[in-house]
Amino acid sequence: MKKLIFGLLLLFLCGGLWAQSPSLIPTPESLEMFSGSFVLSSSTRINFQGNEAKENVAFLNKFLKQTCGFVLKSGSGKNSIRLISDSSFPKEGYRLTVNEDEIVLRGGEAGLFYAVNTLQQLIPNTGELKIPCLKIEDKPRFAYRGLMLDVGRYFFSVEYLKKFIDQMAHYKLNVFHWHLTEDGGWRIEIKKYPELTRKGAWRSSTQYTNEGALQDRVPHGGFYTQEEVKELVKYAAERHVEIIPEIEMPGHASAALAVFPELSCKGESLAVPLAWGVKNDIFCAGNEAVFAFLEDVLSEIIPLFPSEYIHIGGDEAPKKHWETCPKCQARIQTENLKDEHELQSYFIQRIERFVNSKGKRIIGWDEILEGGLAPNATVMSWRGEDGGIAAANMHHDVIMTPNTYLYFDYYQSDDCQNEPINIGGFLPLEKVYGYEPYTSKITKEQQKYIKGVQGNIWMEYIHSEAMVDYMTYPRALALAEIGWSQAEKKDYLDFQKRLVVRLTAMDREGVLFRIPEPLGWDKLKIENGMAVVDLVSPVEGAKIYYTTDGSNPAIKGNLYAGTLRLPLKLEGLDIKCIVTLPSGRSSGIYTLRSEK
Ligand code: ACM
Ligand code: ZN
Repeated sequence: MKKLIFGLLLLFLCGGLWAQSPSLIPTPESLEMFSGSFVLSSSTRINFQGNEAKENVAFLNKFLKQTCGFVLKSGSGKNSIRLISDSSFPKEGYRLTVNEDEIVLRGGEAGLFYAVNTLQQLIPNTGELKIPCLKIEDKPRFAYRGLMLDVGRYFFSVEYLKKFIDQMAHYKLNVFHWHLTEDGGWRIEIKKYPELTRKGAWRSSTQYTNEGALQDRVPHGGFYTQEEVKELVKYAAERHVEIIPEIEMPGHASAALAVFPELSCKGESLAVPLAWGVKNDIFCAGNEAVFAFLEDVLSEIIPLFPSEYIHIGGDEAPKKHWETCPKCQARIQTENLKDEHELQSYFIQRIERFVNSKGKRIIGWDEILEGGLAPNATVMSWRGEDGGIAAANMHHDVIMTPNTYLYFDYYQSDDCQNEPINIGGFLPLEKVYGYEPYTSKITKEQQKYIKGVQGNIWMEYIHSEAMVDYMTYPRALALAEIGWSQAEKKDYLDFQKRLVVRLTAMDREGVLFRIPEPLGWDKLKIENGMAVVDLVSPVEGAKIYYTTDGSNPAIKGNLYAGTLRLPLKLEGLDIKCIVTLPSGRSSGIYTLRSEK
């Protein structure tokens, strides 16, 4: 059956029928296609009702200017686009109708923005700007659809973060989790403690490896001023992306402890560490000065972020020093705690009370379950799904971000020689796409506690914007579909087909995504004693260059122009290819080996 579907897909591709089904990611809740099309041109007119609609006209015109070279003047009648903001729609829901004379977009606050982004995806990448007649009714499956960037281990510019948020918003992802403090750097200005960024935002070598001899000795650092934070929060909000800041405690705090060693149990002086990993030096839970410091920090953080949530970390906090620290042990006694896990719970609950008193709620990594969960906390399940399941059983909200599916710092291919070095793991696109947040291990009744999903990009080995792009995309588009689309609408083969078109748009926008292997690359067939390889470009407009003698296709490759029929050889086959995008950028070398 799978083979048959794949055959049909190829038939569609080759037969030019492709253009008829729109390549939307995430796929909408309902889509009806009709005959005919709307022809978009510089003489198309645009009109709107409501203030939100006005902002969205500006977004659409900005897109058209960049991609088609024109903007739409206002006007109505035949060949026009109308945007209507309609508060009777769910906040993120919308309807989009295209007929030969008119396109109408109608939606709630964020919904209209999403309708505009869907319309952008309906505009062909090349050729005549024909949009097929159709009707889309759409809304998200999950309220929380996030991506996390660890800017603590490696600093990224505000300009890059804006580009990152642009892509998120286009694919209907709506939460940017900003991991702002880490062992490797403190990245946000705190006016009361200028040393935190003057000293704690810098280190003497790029974190690359735990082996000191291999450190590059290139100093690295940077931080965001509060003005820059406000600017990014506003930029994201305009695109319906909420920013949740994370201030890590009690662990992953070496950068802060390098500035204020007296806040650790041992009080010994430290440098901002050059090697990543779980550190034994963490905030002392017995020292009142630690809580005063963290409350001061949070008092500056909270007003900067309109989000209901503050992420307080909570993961990977070794209790080694707490076990021998007189202050921590005294706290265990006075608070009648059983052990150091209960001491961590005391720590988090005390911070939760403070955050709650400021009208906000906390999110923490799933370690906050250990020693007793803070009463109002939302749990981010990262060590698989177990923490999420336990929290849902306790009627706590959950964000599923399991490292078994959604860690985008893991390898995308098992040909690791051919991938940039990274932390390990293996999460290819198909595995990510297959993730179902409503695990069978929770009851239907408990599903309501699963608020959504998030992909995490940790920077132990990611030290450039190019590599963030490479690790994030296209997996973030699979995440977008997990978060937005109804489970029964998901279909990996169909997703791959839509991705072919979406990646061309990403290439045009300069996003340096990992170029997938050609479709059909893993489907070598043997027919009449010949090896048959049928390939489809993974990106519309891209070219495939191949060799069959094991040589480098980037140097000696033949342009793929149709099915390959190769004589079987005693020594087996060694087919290699690269994919070259319309922008000129090429993939790594993909290798298909068959045994004799
Ligand atoms: C984590 O990956 N330590 C949350
Ligand atoms: Zn201590």
